[in-house]
Amino acid sequence: MADAEKNEKAMEPAADATPNVTEVETVEAATEDEAVAALEAKVDRGEPILQVRNLVKHFPLTQGILFKRQIGAVKAVDGISFDLYQGETLGIVGESGCGKSTVAKLLMTLETATAGEVFYKGQDITRLSGRALRAVRRNIQMVFQDPYTSLNPRMTVGDIIGEPFEIHPEVAPKGDRRRKVQELLDVVGLNPEYINRYPHQFSGGQRQRIGIARGLALNPEIIICDEPVSALDVSVQAQVINLMEGLQDEFNLSYIFIAHDLSIVRHISDRVGVMYLGKMAEIGSDTEIYDHPTHPYTQALLSAVPVPDPESREGRTRIILTGDVPSPANPPSGCRFRTRCWKAEDKCAKEVPSSPSPSASPARIRLRRMSRRATSRRRRTWSTPDAPARAAV
Ligand SMILES: Nc1ncnc2c1ncn2[C@@H]1O[C@H](COP(=O)(O)OP(=O)(O)OP(=O)(O)O)[C@@H](O)[C@H]1O
Ligand code: SF4
Ligand SMILES: [Mg+2]
Repeated sequence: MADAEKNEKAMEPAADATPNVTEVETVEAATEDEAVAALEAKVDRGEPILQVRNLVKHFPLTQGILFKRQIGAVKAVDGISFDLYQGETLGIVGESGCGKSTVAKLLMTLETATAGEVFYKGQDITRLSGRALRAVRRNIQMVFQDPYTSLNPRMTVGDIIGEPFEIHPEVAPKGDRRRKVQELLDVVGLNPEYINRYPHQFSGGQRQRIGIARGLALNPEIIICDEPVSALDVSVQAQVINLMEGLQDEFNLSYIFIAHDLSIVRHISDRVGVMYLGKMAEIGSDTEIYDHPTHPYTQALLSAVPVPDPESREGRTRIILTGDVPSPANPPSGCRFRTRCWKAEDKCAKEVPSSPSPSASPARIRLRRMSRRATSRRRRTWSTPDAPARAAV
């Protein structure tokens, strides 16, 4: 298939993006285990789109001016593993400095891994360079936290969104770029006539939409979102999250969604990974992590999340962690959480706990996606009876 044709295809809604209502209702009617068993039979059990294995990033600490000597290393990411499936959203949460952004940069190959592998469709991207790396990068894009600093104030929106086409002209030939950028503006709910405006003429929410449009320009399969809504007002956050969910359904995107806000992560994620000091403490479905957390760190994090329902709030105990997060340059031996864990025993200083399983059941992920789609379909019908309105934010 010609490349241009392929791109057009990628911009079309994915074949399975809108399961018919009967399918959703049938699955919703069964218990979750029955529904999973039924889906197991139907779901394509393909390999994960991204497989991260024992990924390590140590930033060297050096001393001396002329003769630099390494005296240690900041162990920002220290052996984490997880899978990402097609169309899935994997949330990553954890305290500041635990290594979330470093993971994002490693997946984008903006940082070189100290050790470990990142397989994209079975190919280890940590060992690629040149044209092969450029081809993979096209399929893994990023949306940044700060819509104010991530857009060049001297470039028009058209140039910002169309910039990736300079590196990948095969996606949009020169004569077709204006049309393509206007199409992208429309896709993210902005007026295509804004193409010649500058970033300062937009609000924060609109700028993040521009950032998302730029992320979509090359028809990627994976988008890594590092705190994409943290800098936005709460009301605007909801609109951007809804937009991202809609785009995921439309283009069958896979997201890695990094955020501090545990409620937003639960809302958007199919699975959630909890990081602590460069390690993955726990990883599981949103229900496993939020309703039945097993790791003491996850339990402590979640105990701090406000619960609106007074009845559910009653039996809850807030777990307050004592002590500071240790330095990633000198992490505790054994379990990294032991200096703050209220369940720690002597053996925790010697034994490194086993890593959580990186894989998941594709059927459970699909089930979660389908019920989320059904919910969002209801929500959209309720809020916007007609065609989606242009972004007012
Ligand atoms: N280029 C670098 N050189 C040295 N240390 C670094 C570098 N980049 C990150 N670090 C360190 O690695 C650790 C992890 O940083 P990272 O930015 O990944 O954390 P984070 O979880 O994204 O935090 P936040 O939630 O505040 O964004 C921190 O201790 C940080 O100081
Ligand atoms: S310190 Fe021990 S009990 Fe606490 S999380 Fe680590 S391994 Fe588990
Ligand atoms: Mg960060």
